[in-house]
Amino acid sequence: MPAAAVYRIAWVVNSGAEVSTCDTLTLAPTSVIPIAPAAMFRARPPFAVCVVPTVPTSPLSRDNGPVPRSKPELSDRSKDAGTDFLQLDVSRAPQGGVSGWLSEQLRAAIADGRLPVGTRVPPGRVLADELRVSRGVVTEAYRRLIEDGQLVGRGRSGTFVAAAPVTAPAPPASARTSTTGPAAARTDFAAPPAHDVFDLLRASPARIDLTPGVPDLAAFPRGAWLRAERRVLDDLEPADFGYGDPRGVAPFRRAVADWLARTRGVRIEPGRVVIVTGVAQALELVTRVLMDDGLAEIAVEDPGSLGVRQHLASRRLRTPPIPVDDGGLRVDALRASGASVVALTPAHQFPTGVVLDGGRRRELVTWAEGTGGLILEDDYDAEHRYDRPPVPAVQALLPDHVFYTGSVSKTLAPALRVGWLIAPPRYQDAVVIAKRYADLGNAVLPQLVLTELMGSGELERHLRMLRRRHRRRRDAMIEAIRTRIPAARIHGAAAGLHLTITFDASFRDTDLAAAALDLGVKTQPLSWHYQAPAAPGLVLGYAAAPPSEAAHGIELIAEALRQIR
Ligand SMILES: Cc1ncc(COP(=O)(O)O)c(C=O)c1O
Repeated sequence: MPAAAVYRIAWVVNSGAEVSTCDTLTLAPTSVIPIAPAAMFRARPPFAVCVVPTVPTSPLSRDNGPVPRSKPELSDRSKDAGTDFLQLDVSRAPQGGVSGWLSEQLRAAIADGRLPVGTRVPPGRVLADELRVSRGVVTEAYRRLIEDGQLVGRGRSGTFVAAAPVTAPAPPASARTSTTGPAAARTDFAAPPAHDVFDLLRASPARIDLTPGVPDLAAFPRGAWLRAERRVLDDLEPADFGYGDPRGVAPFRRAVADWLARTRGVRIEPGRVVIVTGVAQALELVTRVLMDDGLAEIAVEDPGSLGVRQHLASRRLRTPPIPVDDGGLRVDALRASGASVVALTPAHQFPTGVVLDGGRRRELVTWAEGTGGLILEDDYDAEHRYDRPPVPAVQALLPDHVFYTGSVSKTLAPALRVGWLIAPPRYQDAVVIAKRYADLGNAVLPQLVLTELMGSGELERHLRMLRRRHRRRRDAMIEAIRTRIPAARIHGAAAGLHLTITFDASFRDTDLAAAALDLGVKTQPLSWHYQAPAAPGLVLGYAAAPPSEAAHGIELIAEALRQIR
């Protein structure tokens, strides 16, 4: 039985915004947040409830348990169409725009912490009654936030706050010159990117996060995962908790082989699939194997992922840059470079977003077969294609020349640390040996849960939902860029989790990213991903930001652009 957590319960009385009383109550951490306050809320509709997890205290007793306090006044409710819930005053709503106004009020309250994650919002009927608007107005406002992933409906239990944007405001510019304290843990865009550049960027406070590389994490299918994990645990034998095959558990390798055949055109025996902790570990294993054969360099796309380049450099590999144009990697330049191995993101190039076209694929086949060249295919966010089915993997054309790798980081969550690697047959044994020495194999439970999710169709359902959501977010971001930053050129296919903008102008995009961060928006400067000099630009992730937030972020980037020019 998990330990109980202590929550602070605060009532906001109907006479004003002040918290008038605070009690503590013990709840099991697994309870759908929080049953008791929800009941209280039902009992006294004029009250809002905040539930704030707090540090565990001594066990509940008469002294620290919930104690009835003086009842808040119910009789002095305003005659106006308002409610104590967030002190909403409908007279402030624009004519004909009450739903939009209400959704903005809710969004603001989620962002500034008045409605913490887990809070139940009032039933639509109750709120509509109090605001004296039709129920449809409230339903529409809730629908918009559900669509954004900020609210979630849990059937009869009600509608709950599911996710909040990062709310910490950017520190004032003066504070950032300090080298101590939290302000020091902030990206210094003026310096060349160091090993911890992405850690620092993640830690940099910002109201709006438009960095690329993550799907909508608020959409993680927690319920489906829990149900699948319960089924898995019911069926596990004691021996299953022991050490296993370093390639991964057999049912998951089979599920991955089926999944890749169905979705990526990769036809492979399950025995050839090696489960890894992500594309990052695949890079580690492949470079280890190839360096044992004397490899000293891997050609990379330019622009191409700074993270991948840093990873290869950490292995002391040189990374000669191969230019990318509208057709993808320039294979003629690859040939001219004399490199024997190239790392590629052909399905949706990072960061330009171009798809390796048919002509280039044929050139690549000729290059690999003619020279014995090897390709490290990073199937980066390939499942996210919004205008047509994803292009098949290059591995399907060149199984003897391609190390193929992908992961669930862009479909479910990077935190799971689960991916796969398929090596050309002659490298299979060496890759399995490298994986064995790396960690004896991935954790078993997540593999089995993913087997369930893939087999039951749950993962495909999740992906379909994500595609619809990401597509709307991409459209909203493009619309905002066209309106607010008309000078920006937008690049990339309707795919993936990010887009890139460039400017026909000469300024440092690191200055733009720094100015945007000052205004509370986190982005990546395009120059981070270039080895050769190039036009300034930004890489913008749209998948994790609700449309209204992304649009506001673009507005602030436009402001940042005015400031630096
Ligand atoms: C181009 C590219 N490849 C691979 C990765 C790492 O992916 P994984 O989480 O599967 O290790 C990243 C990280 O965002 C990336 O940008």
